[in-house]
Amino acid sequence: MDGKKILVVYYSRTGASRKVAEEVAKQLSCEMKEIKSTPSYPLGILGFQKALFHTLFAKDIKISIDQSDFKKYDLVIVGGPAWGGLPAIPVRKFLEVYKKDLKEVAFLMTQGGESGREKFFAKMREACGRSSRAQLALSKKDFEKGDIKKQVSTFINQLNLKAKDVGFKQKPESFASL
Ligand SMILES: Cc1cc2nc3c(=O)[nH]c(=O)nc-3n(C[C@H](O)[C@H](O)[C@H](O)COP(=O)(O)O)c2cc1C
Repeated sequence: MDGKKILVVYYSRTGASRKVAEEVAKQLSCEMKEIKSTPSYPLGILGFQKALFHTLFAKDIKISIDQSDFKKYDLVIVGGPAWGGLPAIPVRKFLEVYKKDLKEVAFLMTQGGESGREKFFAKMREACGRSSRAQLALSKKDFEKGDIKKQVSTFINQLNLKAKDVGFKQKPESFASL
């Protein structure tokens, strides 16, 4: 393949970030990998508290992901939830551990509300020492409206890729001008 090699990496505790990651990977016809963390952050109040505490205090957790060679990707799209206004600790850890291997990045975030996005993305950029090619933030309201496809396709437009960079058999609408 002569186009860009793209990977979507995500962490999700309750499934929202997974949905966005899936839609991005679908629209780009690219691979997707999940970040797993030790400890885990189970559903329920104890998992919530642990998630918040570990994120606010930048706890040194372990992560695992079914891929170790990130250098082979031209663009890695990294996504996950806001916890306490910050990137969830497994996402932050991923960016810190693999920053040397990431050529270019773009970010996805999901959140309950709609505030604090600039701070969230600034922390993502700080964790990997890179500027991002594009950023997409989705709130609970966006999910309730039921159509995240349009927002994902706007995000993909902002990536400014050439049609040959992605594995479509046919150009989708967002690439009509290329
Ligand atoms: C520990 C914790 C802290 C959270 N803090 C925030 C927050 O500061 N701002 C916000 O808008 N949403 C916050 N949320 C809501 C999540 O960001 C939101 O539900 C997100 O979409 C969950 O993504 P996931 O389903 O991929 O895990 C928090 C959720 C948890 C579990």
